[in-house]
Amino acid sequence: MLDARALPKAELHVHIEGTFEPELIFEIAERNRIAVPYASVEALRSAYDFTDLQSFLNVYYAGMSVLRTERDYYDLTAAYLRRAAADNVRHAEIFFDPQAHTARGVPFAVVTNGIREALGDAEHELGISAQLILCFLRDQSAASAMQVLEAALRDRERIVAVGLDSGEVGNPPSKFERVFERARAEGFLTVAHAGEEGPPEYIIEALDLLKVSRIDHGVRCMEDASLVERLRRERVPLTVCPLSNVRLKVVRRLEDHPLKRMLDAGLVATVNSDDPAYFGGYVGENYTRSAAALSLTDAELGTLARNSFQASFLDTVVREHYLEELNELQGGPATVSRSSTV
Ligand code: HPA
Ligand code: ZN
Repeated sequence: MLDARALPKAELHVHIEGTFEPELIFEIAERNRIAVPYASVEALRSAYDFTDLQSFLNVYYAGMSVLRTERDYYDLTAAYLRRAAADNVRHAEIFFDPQAHTARGVPFAVVTNGIREALGDAEHELGISAQLILCFLRDQSAASAMQVLEAALRDRERIVAVGLDSGEVGNPPSKFERVFERARAEGFLTVAHAGEEGPPEYIIEALDLLKVSRIDHGVRCMEDASLVERLRRERVPLTVCPLSNVRLKVVRRLEDHPLKRMLDAGLVATVNSDDPAYFGGYVGENYTRSAAALSLTDAELGTLARNSFQASFLDTVVREHYLEELNELQGGPATVSRSSTV
């Protein structure tokens, strides 16, 4: 049995604010002289009992509200990258939510400077590469999103793409068509959370109106056979987050998760952690616990790792290097078809 935690992998769906562990929340709150309305780390952690996406978002925005200085954003990001490296994450494409900080008076550049500094240090010290995906909060207005995009145009280093997160139902991709059009014209790639709590139609809108390169979550595509066929044919990657889906009650139990059915349907599914400090596991644990619950084979785990690099925004040469490494780990080059790469 393959040690899935040790497989080289890319993480493509992780919110940096969702990696904020209770211990670090308390440490930074104290440093900034902000009161946390919980008596202890344990009391805070025990409040992580969610009924749906919105009940999580309330706690998530409250937690991140203690972040104020570049050093805070540095510490948050550095802690995630250390943890990710321990799961053999070689490359991470990390979401951040600028509006959740600028609305509290934290300047855009304080957020990006702190995060980028940590990314640079981790690249040298841990050998892990990373890029950023700026997410618009879809429960805020399109005008607010456009303002954030303007800020990013003045400060765009390492921001490879824009995305869409926060409360999904009632905030369809169509609301942000103009913002995404502008982002693409300025050279950003696009992704969007779609089909987590929202219907399959939101996935179709994200593809047709926002021209996304990947769908984040996307698990509800399984309700629409013609959409599954389209996603398979067009090889649209889906950044699936199994433990998140259990905690936010998108699925009842991990054993019921559609991940294996998605692979069986020929979809380019990847496994990711979403908000690991809140959902009970980093990416390695998402692999190992999904493997146990769904009886994933070694070949399927290898496919998930391969898909993570294939779906990444890495340069072709670097991507191929990681794919080669995975091929060699899984039975050597002689037994692995490379017909698509020669
Ligand atoms: N869905 C939508 N918005 C989010 C999530 C999520 O899983 N995590 C952080 N913001
Ligand atoms: Zn997410």
